[in-house]
Amino acid sequence: MGRSLRPGRGSGKAGGPVSQRSGAARATLAADARRRAARTDEEDPVSQRTPSRWEQIVAANPDHSAWYVERFRAMAARGDDLHGESRLVDAMVPRGSRILDAGSGPGRVGGELARRGHTVVGVDVDPVLIEAARADHPDATWVVDDICEMDLTAHGIDEGFDVVVSAGNVMTFLAEGTHAAALERMRAHLRPRGRVVVGFGAGRGYEVRELLGDARTAGLVPDLMLATWDLRPYESDSDFVVAVLRAD
Ligand SMILES: C[S@@+](CC[C@H](N)C(=O)[O-])C[C@H]1O[C@@H](n2cnc3c(N)ncnc32)[C@H](O)[C@@H]1O
Repeated sequence: MGRSLRPGRGSGKAGGPVSQRSGAARATLAADARRRAARTDEEDPVSQRTPSRWEQIVAANPDHSAWYVERFRAMAARGDDLHGESRLVDAMVPRGSRILDAGSGPGRVGGELARRGHTVVGVDVDPVLIEAARADHPDATWVVDDICEMDLTAHGIDEGFDVVVSAGNVMTFLAEGTHAAALERMRAHLRPRGRVVVGFGAGRGYEVRELLGDARTAGLVPDLMLATWDLRPYESDSDFVVAVLRAD
């Protein structure tokens, strides 16, 4: 999972050509997401969703979520540096900004950003992790939802965000074929001039060239491509990417 200050080596190209998807493709994605978000639980039972890779892992090992929570609580207790991502995001915005932590897990990133004086909403599909986030980081708002379908107005959150951050390999834990939808939902929750920041490692089934294509489909373009959360530049052999994206 998230290596907060990861030096890089590996695969994936930062600046290769991306497919130019039409505004119509983006509109379809957005309409799909709105339709899904508008369904009631009765109309849209969990069984009709494609479970994310994370949910498949939890289904195979129901103790996985609790193990994950305790692993990070133990690292925090022994003073490990778990805040590389939060420091970068904090540097991108003024005090009191609005941050959406997409795929927040138990709140490692969003919780720290709330402590740094931002208004944070965290969204995660795993209710065990969200329960832990609520317990450990009560200063932020935590929502159980699928980031590929999220519409936070349905949770009474109407204002957009200055940064949407998705750290800790979240993109590599999504269901196959849902990455563009997740990115579109992130873009849809941005304030004007807001940015999306995603970080994940290479060799986990989702590569940088796919990210750039899906970002284009979602109406996002790269602003800055990094290889680490401590601002090393992305290079052709980097094995980690931190992509800062903005609406096109
Ligand atoms: C390795 S954890 C990272 C958690 C957190 N971002 C961090 O860095 O500490 C990956 C997270 O992605 C979440 N996730 C995967 N697919 C998701 C989806 N479709 N919607 C919301 N969260 C999802 C999982 O529930 C899990 O919390």
